[in-house]
Amino acid sequence: MKIITLKNEALQSEKIAQDTAAFIRKNPGALLCLAAGDTPLEAYRQLIRLQAAGEVDLGSVYYVGLDEWEGIGRETSGSCMQVMFDGFYDPAGIPADRIVAWNGLNDDPEAEKKRIEDWIGLRGGIDFTLLGIGMNGHVGFNEPGTGLPEGCLRVKLDETTRRVSVKYFGRALPIEYGLSIGAGELKKAKKVFLIASGRHKAEIVMKTARMPASAEVPSSLMTDHPDITLYLDEAAAEQLG
Ligand code: GLP
Repeated sequence: MKIITLKNEALQSEKIAQDTAAFIRKNPGALLCLAAGDTPLEAYRQLIRLQAAGEVDLGSVYYVGLDEWEGIGRETSGSCMQVMFDGFYDPAGIPADRIVAWNGLNDDPEAEKKRIEDWIGLRGGIDFTLLGIGMNGHVGFNEPGTGLPEGCLRVKLDETTRRVSVKYFGRALPIEYGLSIGAGELKKAKKVFLIASGRHKAEIVMKTARMPASAEVPSSLMTDHPDITLYLDEAAAEQLG
């Protein structure tokens, strides 16, 4: 796994945006799976700036949502859908027919999983994915112990994820399950970016990059992908030695 460490989060986001734009330029029509969460938001703003400068056409590719909190929809600030549409898809002007995102309000999770799987199938698989490493090492909602499932899954969220969710919603919501593309499906992508920033991620980054791969640290299961890059700021890289 290639590791790129930048001095701070601003420079890290700039580099992630440039490298994502380079992939898009080379792969028109590709299917991208971009994480919500706090970590990539500045990189998404940078990508929109690159588009405004004429350096990339973000509408030349297709998108699939990575994950969603079950029972939560776009009208809830902090849902993955709200974060992605308000933070990226809408300001980037991506046509609606190029995006399929999870609807956490669908009361039939099996149908919802199939809808996402069908879109991935229609586009011939995910080509590129950008994944934020969660505090417990999850990627999407592939929680510790989930392994490398292909297709999509409904997962019981672990305690860390439920505790961390307060930062997105500003309060504790009664969420028990998450919907996600499986880590094995994500791993089939041609190119994988793993990202983490801040000192609070230093320990899980060390476990991801320096310890033997383990199902208890889902991000570590991605590291033997043939084209994976881990983007860090110096604070997140602190325990790498
Ligand atoms: C969250 C989200 C993911 C996100 C990850 C890291 O729970 N469901 O989409 O990539 O965990 O989040 P953050 O970047 O806020 O640390």
